[in-house]
Amino acid sequence: MKLLNLSMLSLVGTSLLRSSSAFGPAAFSRTSASANATQRNMFNRLFGANTISSEYPIMAEESAMSQKGHGTSEAPVQKELRWNCDNETADRICNFNRHYAEFGGYWESTTFLKSEKGDEPINFYDSVTGELLFKAPIGRTMDEFVKESKSHGWPSFRDEEVVWDHVRCLKNGECISDSGTHLGHNLPDGSGNRYCINLVSVAGNSKDE
Ligand SMILES: *[C@@H]1O[C@H](CO)[C@@H](O)[C@H](O)[C@H]1NC(C)=O
Ligand SMILES: *[C@@H]1O[C@H](CO)[C@@H](O)[C@H](O)[C@H]1NC(C)=O
Repeated sequence: MKLLNLSMLSLVGTSLLRSSSAFGPAAFSRTSASANATQRNMFNRLFGANTISSEYPIMAEESAMSQKGHGTSEAPVQKELRWNCDNETADRICNFNRHYAEFGGYWESTTFLKSEKGDEPINFYDSVTGELLFKAPIGRTMDEFVKESKSHGWPSFRDEEVVWDHVRCLKNGECISDSGTHLGHNLPDGSGNRYCINLVSVAGNSKDE
């Protein structure tokens, strides 16, 4: 800590400030060129993240997002998504987009908050494939999950709420599923990794139902 050089500190601080100034995942991806993983990691160490784990996120190569049968996926999103999410918006964000997000707070305009009550973990499935991607809340209450997500503008998951079978991150923080669905971005904060995910990307019905 003592050996830190000031210019480095301000460089890291500045890029983090810009990326967290209330624009959410979309803005982050535009500024992330100036805040690479090394810098973000350093930021976390400086400002007290004590849950950094080298295990997560599990990374993938850019080739996971290659063009396939339908944009970056093989097929469109499911026609009937959960929580009344709009399938056209979902298809655009999941399969034909790398940077933009549903607008901040969109998830609150769906039926999610009305239909999901209680602290039992909710399963979130890929809107394209129906694979299980996230389970939340885990290790916290629904109120805490909702509060953090509201303050950020997008459903926000922590490492233990990610089902790592199919979720991956790219070097620039983009969060995807291994079949090519764009999910959102990892925006680490003082408590560690925080995956800010478009509800439309994880509003699928289970492939097993
Ligand atoms: C990331 O940033 C650090 C600190 O500025 C720099 O030393 C490093 O080379 C960068 N890494 C990449 C892959 O750009
Ligand atoms: C969305 O659902 C409607 C109604 O079922 C369907 O006609 C349309 O093709 C779907 N759009 C996409 C992108 O799958």
